[in-house]
Amino acid sequence: MPSALPDGEPVPADGALPAAALAGAADRPLGFYLHVPYCATRCGYCDFNTYTATELRGTGGVLASRDNYAATLADEVRLARAVLGDDPREVRTVFVGGGTPTLLDAADLVRMLSAVREEFGLAADAEITTEANPDSVGPEYLAALRAGGFNRISFGMQSARRHVLEVLDRTHTPGRPEECVAEARAAGFEHVNLDLIYGTPGESDDDWRASLDAALGAGPDHVSAYALIVEEGTGLARRIRRGEVPMTDDDEHADRYLIAEETLSAAGFAWYEVSNWASSEAGRCLHNELYWRGADWWGAGPGAHSHVGGVRWWNVKHPGAYAAALAAGRSPGAGREVLTEEDRRVERVLLELRLREGVPLDLLREAGLAASRRALSDGLLQEEAYGRGRAVLTLRGRLLADAVVRDLVD
Ligand SMILES: C[S@@+](CC[C@H](N)C(=O)[O-])C[C@H]1O[C@@H](n2cnc3c(N)ncnc32)[C@H](O)[C@@H]1O
Ligand code: SF4
Repeated sequence: MPSALPDGEPVPADGALPAAALAGAADRPLGFYLHVPYCATRCGYCDFNTYTATELRGTGGVLASRDNYAATLADEVRLARAVLGDDPREVRTVFVGGGTPTLLDAADLVRMLSAVREEFGLAADAEITTEANPDSVGPEYLAALRAGGFNRISFGMQSARRHVLEVLDRTHTPGRPEECVAEARAAGFEHVNLDLIYGTPGESDDDWRASLDAALGAGPDHVSAYALIVEEGTGLARRIRRGEVPMTDDDEHADRYLIAEETLSAAGFAWYEVSNWASSEAGRCLHNELYWRGADWWGAGPGAHSHVGGVRWWNVKHPGAYAAALAAGRSPGAGREVLTEEDRRVERVLLELRLREGVPLDLLREAGLAASRRALSDGLLQEEAYGRGRAVLTLRGRLLADAVVRDLVD
């Protein structure tokens, strides 16, 4: 969740949604994203809505404190229950993300999950994930999460190389993420993801290969590999501007992506979204698939975004302002927009083109269709799928996904 918030119309104090947003809700899956806005230190590349203790000092008072956070977030889950009214849906996915969720006690994460279970009920096969930083968990912590209902865990590994971890300001040591996977398996986690970043200044092709090999050697069933984005305003952007570290270029990113695809597919992992690979259907992240397919999700926590039936809204960013709104019985929503049919079409093209199943051609308008024919003849879309009426990226298309999407959306 990037930290900048869009403009929009105000959210009513009670958070009420237009009736149209709830129409037909029973036929759509419902997920919860629970944001934890705290980190021990800030990584130089990170633009997420998260705060270190130093950044919070003197702002937001006791309300913004980590100690009260699980109770505050549970208040928003109860608000969600009131807003969604007699919506009969059980929750299909819960994803606790950050920030660093595992900076809270395991009991706090379990408490947050319990609030969702108590208010909505969880589907019998619900996917319950938390993100975790490798240096903030251990066997007991993981066992407590597993006993509390979590069945999937996503570790921020980023790299196996010490010099790359240093440029990224990561606090864990090489080897620790792999130990975490073993500890998570021993605790009974069925699904384990490792997040990797490629294209860090100073990283070589061999460094990247070593990271992929180390990740695969640990035995996860899911790997996310993201090209490093140098976000404006971050410490890393400043270091690059001052010439302290070099910037990698797009060609390097493309080479690294090809190495990722080659290495991961040789190990039996298949891509199902441009940046995501799983070793089986069951290993895919259902929660992300809800986002990518325009389902309903409630994002609780400071700065979290939600989407229900074509209405998208976002919460105030600061943990103090967030807690103050809930303490006063108000929605923490900062703004919202009601999506038009055209907004929803554009969003579907943007998200679904990045999926292995691609996007139906009948979702494209005339200019987009013409662009899709050019993309097909340039080898960016798969011929067989095109014949079946779908735009599906080839490997070369995946390298240029952002540009292809921009053309097809017109
Ligand atoms: C919200 S972060 C939180 C995960 C956890 N706090 C951690 O750092 O391990 C989720 C993932 O987004 C990716 N990420 C964050 N900022 C990024 C950036 N600027 N460029 C590429 N990937 C990024 C990282 O792989 C990270 O693990
Ligand atoms: S630990 Fe994760 S969320 Fe926190 S600053 Fe680093 S990348 Fe961002």
